[in-house]
Amino acid sequence: VKVAVIVVAAGSGTRLGAGVPKAFVQLAGRSILEHSLHSVAGMSSQPHVVVVAPEELLDDARAVLERVIGAGDAVAGGVTRQASVAAGLALVGDADIVLVHDAARALTPAALFDRVVDTVAATGSGAIPGLPVSDTIKRTAEGGAIIATVDRAELSAVQTPQGFPAAPLRAAYEAAARDVTDDAQLMADAGHPVAVVEGDPLAFKITTAWDLRRAEELLRPASV
Ligand code: C5P
Repeated sequence: VKVAVIVVAAGSGTRLGAGVPKAFVQLAGRSILEHSLHSVAGMSSQPHVVVVAPEELLDDARAVLERVIGAGDAVAGGVTRQASVAAGLALVGDADIVLVHDAARALTPAALFDRVVDTVAATGSGAIPGLPVSDTIKRTAEGGAIIATVDRAELSAVQTPQGFPAAPLRAAYEAAARDVTDDAQLMADAGHPVAVVEGDPLAFKITTAWDLRRAEELLRPASV
């Protein structure tokens, strides 16, 4: 099977407050994007890689893609993550399976990419990594009044890479009628089954300065 991986790296990262788009922030001597591409390079299949980056950083994205993967495409992103994924999808060519990955999940192990590919290949439907929720979750009204406690046994905190057969993913993007924050939701809207597979704590998303510190800590020698 032909696999393509779209790495979305076009977000501004305002919550990180680093002054440069998040995927280009330095983490233990490499950009966040470079860390993510190293994980992709460790996959057991050799996928076609598409990086979606801010227009002004496309040259940087191409350079890191060349250095880490040796080939691939870079394309400018859009205003929303969904628009950025759509831009990447236009370049996946004849892939059978497409994985969409947030560059911001810089420490994601290559094995998680492989697990998602293997599940999509075996089932023919979408697979996304998720972890059990450890906190008790409350549904609240405006102002904070508690309406209900949600049964956390039913919940998964989902991550990326999210993998799908290419054709229905393309169709779901063409038919997209609303803004969503992940690709699994668009597939579900289009009536396609998607299953959660076991995620990995290292696939956490770097969003805040605190997350960046945690990632630095995990990358210290003798830590991971
Ligand atoms: O903002 P958030 O952390 O949820 O973004 C998740 C991923 O989507 C990040 O890797 C970010 O670079 C990417 N993104 C994008 N284009 C956007 C918004 C986010 O590629 N317009």
